[in-house]
Amino acid sequence: MSAPAIPLMRPEMGDEEIALVAETIRSGWITQGPRVRELEAAFCVHTGAAHAIAVSNCTTALHLALLVLDIKPGDEVIVPPHSYIATANAVLYCGATPVFADIDPVDLNLDPRKVAAAITPRTKAIMAVHQVGRPAALAELAALAQQHGIALIEDAACAAGSEYHGKPIGANPWSSLVCFSFHPRKIISTGDGGMITTDRADYAAKLRLLRQHGMSVNDLQRHGSKTIVNEEYTILGYNYRLTDVQAAIGLAQLRRVPAFIARRREIVARYDTAFASVPGVTLFREPAHARWNHQTYLIRLTGATTAARGAFMQKLLDDGIASRRGIMSIHREPAYTARFGTQSFPASEAASDQCVCLPLYTQMTDAEIERVITAVRQHAPR
Ligand SMILES: Cc1ncc(COP(=O)(O)O)c(C=O)c1O
Repeated sequence: MSAPAIPLMRPEMGDEEIALVAETIRSGWITQGPRVRELEAAFCVHTGAAHAIAVSNCTTALHLALLVLDIKPGDEVIVPPHSYIATANAVLYCGATPVFADIDPVDLNLDPRKVAAAITPRTKAIMAVHQVGRPAALAELAALAQQHGIALIEDAACAAGSEYHGKPIGANPWSSLVCFSFHPRKIISTGDGGMITTDRADYAAKLRLLRQHGMSVNDLQRHGSKTIVNEEYTILGYNYRLTDVQAAIGLAQLRRVPAFIARRREIVARYDTAFASVPGVTLFREPAHARWNHQTYLIRLTGATTAARGAFMQKLLDDGIASRRGIMSIHREPAYTARFGTQSFPASEAASDQCVCLPLYTQMTDAEIERVITAVRQHAPR
């Protein structure tokens, strides 16, 4: 069976990535070393954050962010059900309970009113997800967190390059811990990879310890020392390192973020114009207060059954075009029903059942864009 001619996503990598990787391999330092440090510095410049800590992926970033906040068994963390399962899994890794609060049906992110209703004396944090790179209501969520004396964490897995009220996601004016992913479905990729930004030096120091086995001295420091340094292991840590080979790719990718987003915006503008008049298709529009990075192009087949959506996706596939169902509703997955029973979050479920992700990648040709437009117009359920 051959893969669809038009994939959902294809990361753009080129000579610069290859040259930096080759140089890194030749340098002899291939895991967490100088390149990782460079990528962290570049990410601070990119986001305006005071500190950036590279880790192996966004799931481990979320885990460490929760550990830094001392989230433990008995604690509750409010998360949207409408997210990739890693968002809630990270809470379970700490032995704490993910408490779901439903989303706003228009922006598909946490509804602050639902969050307010879900706060209990056990709530220790709110985890806002910037779903498909679209900033959540950070101002409202930060105000709620402050009012209740709890923390706000951002799952910005998809949100590198997005902005909220004129500030890059990751700049930390709303929360002290923002977690990013560099998986190939994201704006930039290192294969797998992640980053945490924080404005707090104490968090940064602890995150650096946690990501490398709790080691008091890192390899770069030991390598640069003129005297013998023996490390000690001060806390229970993990191996959540990013490699220097991955960081080399990340350095080249990060430089291209503005160009990547500009190209994505061009394609999105064409899709939006073409689909505006397709009956049964609802589009998502960027609000004035945010700038989306367009990590994913999502349409909503308002009123369609899941069977009709499945038939639509199959017709696209028959035409050689990949698509994916919308964002999952975590509470419906067996791993969650087995622990927490049946829960109901209508806005999340409706969005999961009606949305479809369409192909969007920087190197899409005009012909590919036109093929997607024609197929959607032809097959969208009315
Ligand atoms: C919202 C969200 N959070 C977390 C993750 C996990 O990221 P990673 O694959 O880098 O662990 C993803 C990945 O798709 C995601 O979309």
